[in-house]
Amino acid sequence: MHYLYPQQSEVSHEQRTQRLLQRPQLVWFTGLSGSGKSTLALQLESYLFHEGYSVYLLDGDNVRNGLNKDLGFSEQDRKENIRRVGEVAKLMLDAGLIVLCAFISPYEEERNLVKSIVGADKVTEIYVACSLEVCEQRDIKGLYAKARKGIIPNFTGISAPYQAPAAPDLVLQTDTESIEESLQKLIRHVAPKFLHPDKALVKV
Ligand code: ADX
Repeated sequence: MHYLYPQQSEVSHEQRTQRLLQRPQLVWFTGLSGSGKSTLALQLESYLFHEGYSVYLLDGDNVRNGLNKDLGFSEQDRKENIRRVGEVAKLMLDAGLIVLCAFISPYEEERNLVKSIVGADKVTEIYVACSLEVCEQRDIKGLYAKARKGIIPNFTGISAPYQAPAAPDLVLQTDTESIEESLQKLIRHVAPKFLHPDKALVKV
């Protein structure tokens, strides 16, 4: 039994969004390690920031260095990783921010959990699709080679599953298109979602 008495802020969500003049939304990147999630999310973050948006990127390798330091790569730990990130994203959205999340997030169930935590209407799911062969050839961090040798257990795509999303909002095929092409598609797809109706009035 928990004795909890949640407090209601005196600042409403509407007041926060009115101050920032943007629609808070979560852009969720899923895909294999080395598929290009972080690269695209970093570039989108930079683009949106310079366009005047208040935006923040949560990235697997960074979050696992702090908040989720205690978690490994078992199915259970990955789900807890994503659940916590979903809760953090929910708070950031409530604060009025545009949130980008780049996580392998290999299970449909955990991606659905994020949608139920923050509200499906606030989530845009981007599938960063890249064949395992190409990710392995790139092997930017040298992790695939280690996974093949059995040095890293439970490695996504090698010794742990990756469930591609059944109905993503956008697929970026990074093994056949350039980063620039993917980025342009991404910006065209997501940027209109952040526009606050009053923003145009302010600009005039
Ligand atoms: S997730 O599966 O729980 O969503 P997350 O995106 O947070 O993964 O972290 C993935 C990053 O952890 C990879 O980019 C890689 O650098 C590192 N990593 C270390 N061990 C593994 C592993 N067994 N499987 C996948 N990635 C791993």
